[in-house]
Amino acid sequence: MRKIIIDTDPGQDDAIAILTALASPEELDVIGITTVGGNVPLELTTKNALMMVELANRSEVPVVAGHLGPKGRRLVTAEYVHGETGLDGAGRPDPTIAATPGFGPEFIVEQLEVHDAITLCPLGPLTNIADALERRPELASKVEQIVLMGGGHFEGGNVTPMAEFNIYVDPGAAATVFASGIDIVMMPLDVTHKARTSPSRIAAFRDQGTEATTSAAGMLSFAERFDIDRYGFEGGPLHDPCVIAYLLEPEIFTGRLCNVEIETESKLTRGTTVVDWWEATKRPKNAWVANDLDSDRFFALLAERIGRL
Ligand code: BDR
Ligand code: CA
Repeated sequence: MRKIIIDTDPGQDDAIAILTALASPEELDVIGITTVGGNVPLELTTKNALMMVELANRSEVPVVAGHLGPKGRRLVTAEYVHGETGLDGAGRPDPTIAATPGFGPEFIVEQLEVHDAITLCPLGPLTNIADALERRPELASKVEQIVLMGGGHFEGGNVTPMAEFNIYVDPGAAATVFASGIDIVMMPLDVTHKARTSPSRIAAFRDQGTEATTSAAGMLSFAERFDIDRYGFEGGPLHDPCVIAYLLEPEIFTGRLCNVEIETESKLTRGTTVVDWWEATKRPKNAWVANDLDSDRFFALLAERIGRL
């Protein structure tokens, strides 16, 4: 069983990832959830994480608020994708549980101090993760793996032509994480844009008729609208659940070990993940980069797990 910390900015796709993880106690011990400003401001991402923890009946899992936004940079949000609440479509009441006192990066540090090995699962901008690693670089050896959603290679970006949202919001933090020497698995747009909803995939949630599957179906229906309009896709991509699906069934994904560096300077390409897919350089390979998945198996896994809640 893996011990994991989910660092997140819910967001409907973050929420589906959280529900899937909380529905999988045999494989994943979620020792905490830290929140970060991203898709919507921190106050809302924290509230949304609490809402999902409560929906999963897992109120014992601590939710700890972290950074409001990146250091020295304005927070860019994405209400145009996720709605004003960040969780439009969820149809859930406000949470009755409160965040655990503390600060996200400090919580991550404290947990790394007391546990032998933790897998970090960043689903938003990497601000909290980089801060934790900068506070206590020696604790990197306690991180078993970082499995993150972020970046894009052949697929390009979704905020600028080259940059994906999570990396674009805080490229400096991303550079710290990719330079940390920690074993990284990266779920970029190349794979998440292939993990798309369809009417029957959403029905697989809705038809189960539980509170969690009904809410998941509502979120998926809301979230797919933006991408259908923007990209002309037939469904909406489900980014962040790729991270949790990888932990549960890694064979769903294909990819390769590459060097990945982050562009932090250029005005035109800031936030780009420069993936050396073809080994054009001898730079050290620091991340396993996914490029494809079995999307039927992926959606079946999510519907089955969330159906257990
Ligand atoms: C990423 O950005 C957010 O909008 C999603 O939650 C996901 O983490 C996709 O670019
Ligand atoms: Ca996210």
